[in-house]
Amino acid sequence: MSKSLQAIRGMNDILPEQTPLWRYFEGTVASLLDGYGYRQIRMPIVEFTELFKRSIGEVTDIVEKEMYTFEDRNGDSLTLRPEGTAACVRAVLEHGLAGGGQTQKLWYIGPMFRHERPQKGRYRQFHQIGVEVFNLDGPDIDAELIVLTWRLWGLLGIRDAVTLELNSLGTSEARAVYRDALVEFLSARADQLDEDSRRRLSSNPMRILDSKSPETQALLVDAPKLADYLDEASRVHFEGLKARLDAAGIPYVINPKLVRGLDYYSKTVFEWVTDKLGSQGTVCAGGRYDGLVEQMGGKPTTGVGFAMGIERLVLLLETLDKVPAEIARQVDVYLCAFGEAAELAALTLSERLRDQVPGLRLQVNAGGGSFKSQFKKADKSGALYAVILGEDELAQQVVGFKPLRGQAEQQSIAIDALAEHLATSLEKA
Ligand code: HAM
Repeated sequence: MSKSLQAIRGMNDILPEQTPLWRYFEGTVASLLDGYGYRQIRMPIVEFTELFKRSIGEVTDIVEKEMYTFEDRNGDSLTLRPEGTAACVRAVLEHGLAGGGQTQKLWYIGPMFRHERPQKGRYRQFHQIGVEVFNLDGPDIDAELIVLTWRLWGLLGIRDAVTLELNSLGTSEARAVYRDALVEFLSARADQLDEDSRRRLSSNPMRILDSKSPETQALLVDAPKLADYLDEASRVHFEGLKARLDAAGIPYVINPKLVRGLDYYSKTVFEWVTDKLGSQGTVCAGGRYDGLVEQMGGKPTTGVGFAMGIERLVLLLETLDKVPAEIARQVDVYLCAFGEAAELAALTLSERLRDQVPGLRLQVNAGGGSFKSQFKKADKSGALYAVILGEDELAQQVVGFKPLRGQAEQQSIAIDALAEHLATSLEKA
């Protein structure tokens, strides 16, 4: 195929074989969030570029090198959203959703865009489910966010494969003092830093903490520690969170190097990581951003949230063989009809069955075909039963009812009794 007709590198089609697993995952998360009282919000995929620069931070990887930015026909600079928090905060501000100290517990789902180097688990269009909470400033809500993700891992059967990493970044004031101390320490040793870290020394020194360079990591052993610079309020908040996780029996590890790649965080940050996916092992990440709303022009409003990468979680379910068998089946019954009169009758019969058996997944044969070819299609559809309607059956007002899985024999069922027979058979299946 010519190059112009291929999908863009790092942007994937999600094919019909894969969508049942996506829908199972998305449905599980949606009903879990319903159960905790979160409400869905839907934001546009494109926003003014300025929004992301102001919220994520000018000197982050995302804003510096990864955004899909373009000028539209009005000459405005627009960007495909690289994440959901900024747009969610913009929507909350624009519609006054957190006005007067109102609490909001929101969630969203959708594609995000980052021009990263594609590899397993890392794409240029990827999908997140994110949660954002406004105007709740205690560690209880941080704990709830973690507890609900822990419940999700339980529902999906992947608890053993994920680890919770936690850190506290303190308030921006405390962090500024720490940043100065870190810069002073590292500046004196700048010649030993890797090139990226040396550049970050003036732009974003905290990111040096998660440098991949072993030499830089060795230098950091004696560097000032963020934990020693935490302000009292952040320390108490962090202790409160840990006590709640302990009470809930959720295991975690404190990772003092966890700083996150977005500038808006304060106090709590966390990541759920797995070692089952190679280098792209963070499946869910987030934290508190108490200063962001104000920084974007709103009244002081605290915020906390997280986002999970759907591709990575779907990949993890597949890798761990945790795909429930029943989600693969998309058809319960395949209706075969032979001859024109039977085809006409099949149309009304199928519509009646849809009325009578709620939730029935019924596929009606289209395009005619011999016995052999229709049975082949019935089998391939994955249906549990074939219902057969030919001239003889029609004359006797019956159908053939053929179980397609297992050894049971075909039976003859009166058309009027078919709905009930189907409902009970499917209930038992
Ligand atoms: P993030 O860490 O940039 O945070 O992304 C969250 C998750 O999205 C990652 O842990 C990962 O699972 C997934 N993800 C990120 N980039 C890619 C990619 N290129 N390909 C596949 N999956 C990816 C945020 O986006 C914050 N907005 C999270 C947040 C919400 N913090 C507070 N509220």
